[in-house]
Amino acid sequence: MYQNQRQSPVSPRRTKTVSIVIPTYNEAENISRLIEAIKDNLPSGIFTEIIVVDDNSPDGTGKIVETYTQNNNNSATKKSSLQRQDQKQEQNVLEINSNKNCSVKVINRENRNGLIPAILQGISSSGGDYILVMDADFSHSPENIPRMIEELLHNPDQIVVASRYVKGSSVVGWPVKRKIISRCANIIARYVLRLCNITDPMSGFFAFRRHLIENVTIDTSGYKLLLELLVKVNGGNTRVREIPYTFTDRQSGRSKMDNGVMIDYIKAVWHLYRYGQKSKQTTEQNKEKRKSILFLSKAGRFFTIGASGLLVNYVISYLLSNGILANLWYVQATGIGIICSITSNFFLNKAWTFEDRNFSARHTLRQYGLFFGMSSIGAALQLAILYFLVESADMKYEVSLILAVAIASMSNFLLNKKWTFREKVWG
Ligand code: GDD
Ligand code: MN
Repeated sequence: MYQNQRQSPVSPRRTKTVSIVIPTYNEAENISRLIEAIKDNLPSGIFTEIIVVDDNSPDGTGKIVETYTQNNNNSATKKSSLQRQDQKQEQNVLEINSNKNCSVKVINRENRNGLIPAILQGISSSGGDYILVMDADFSHSPENIPRMIEELLHNPDQIVVASRYVKGSSVVGWPVKRKIISRCANIIARYVLRLCNITDPMSGFFAFRRHLIENVTIDTSGYKLLLELLVKVNGGNTRVREIPYTFTDRQSGRSKMDNGVMIDYIKAVWHLYRYGQKSKQTTEQNKEKRKSILFLSKAGRFFTIGASGLLVNYVISYLLSNGILANLWYVQATGIGIICSITSNFFLNKAWTFEDRNFSARHTLRQYGLFFGMSSIGAALQLAILYFLVESADMKYEVSLILAVAIASMSNFLLNKKWTFREKVWG
């Protein structure tokens, strides 16, 4: 029934304002009264913009709002301070500044192509910092608006939802059949999409800060914009504040809920479920990627330090054996060189590779002992592999040495990572 949309509903312009977006289709009997009721209930000191988004209603809802704006607008300006520059040319937009704190505007869309697209168009042509979405048929009483806005201003990073199922709420005038459908749809959404922090994810009466949806792409067809926001904003981790209210079935006009809407709903839930699965997969993949990068960077540091150790070993052995620092027997000098290089390797690895800042004597000494042990194991392993490759596998000494050094260094890295510095081998 509805076409898929791919759009980001965020306009770049901002003012400290609340934009109330009201989608309408055949709401001729309600719309003027609703605008009046909203004006009567506006919180003081806040600039409010009412945006009616009409899909060319056959009953003339759009025309009624146009006439309303003209009648209430003796000093009418067709362009208000809220209107974006790039919308100057936008046709079918008429608005007034009926009083200093409230303006009314109607967007006349040519075709009826879905509730969500209508709301998104209202949002993207609005200028407010805060957006409130509500129905036109008085099911969502304007009396709740001040409380919702207050909650939002108090905690701007949450989505404020007027909820039918939180304690203190009620639903008046719905036939049993509609109540059952709503409850089932509610359970499906919460169970399939794992929405645990909200009792009424199907609400059409909610408010949020424009900033919150900046990088969100809305692309389901259907009726339930809130559902999509709950799944997509902040990777599904947005905080929600539910406010109890009394949902009253419409007194005038007819509901547009039909089988098509229900089928669209199932499609949307399926789509959002798949979306959740995919982003979970991407998160897992990213985690895995991060782990391998971390592993490689640590291995890189470890081997760099290993190379520096060879240099330390060489220089110290040389200085101790040729009379510059001392004149030791070359075996003694090399022994001291090896101990010095293991020691410098240890401290460099502790501080740089494994970023361990605990230098308490006991802890450090214990690690040093282990590092020494692991290095000895590495050396023994290197010798054993070398011996095996040359003697039993008949390989050339030069090649065998490279292999033996590579295997021994890797085992050295892994053993020290796990046992000396108590890290997971992977990650
Ligand atoms: N522009 C536009 N285009 N507006 C529409 C369209 C459309 O295709 N379809 C419906 N609307 C408007 C209606 O004029 C009304 O203001 C609002 O959207 C809700 O439509 P209703 O027909 O009154 O819906 P409902 O009462 O059955 O459903 C309500 O309850 C649901 C929860 O069970 C709505 O609040 C839903 O948003 C809500 O999810
Ligand atoms: Mn309704």
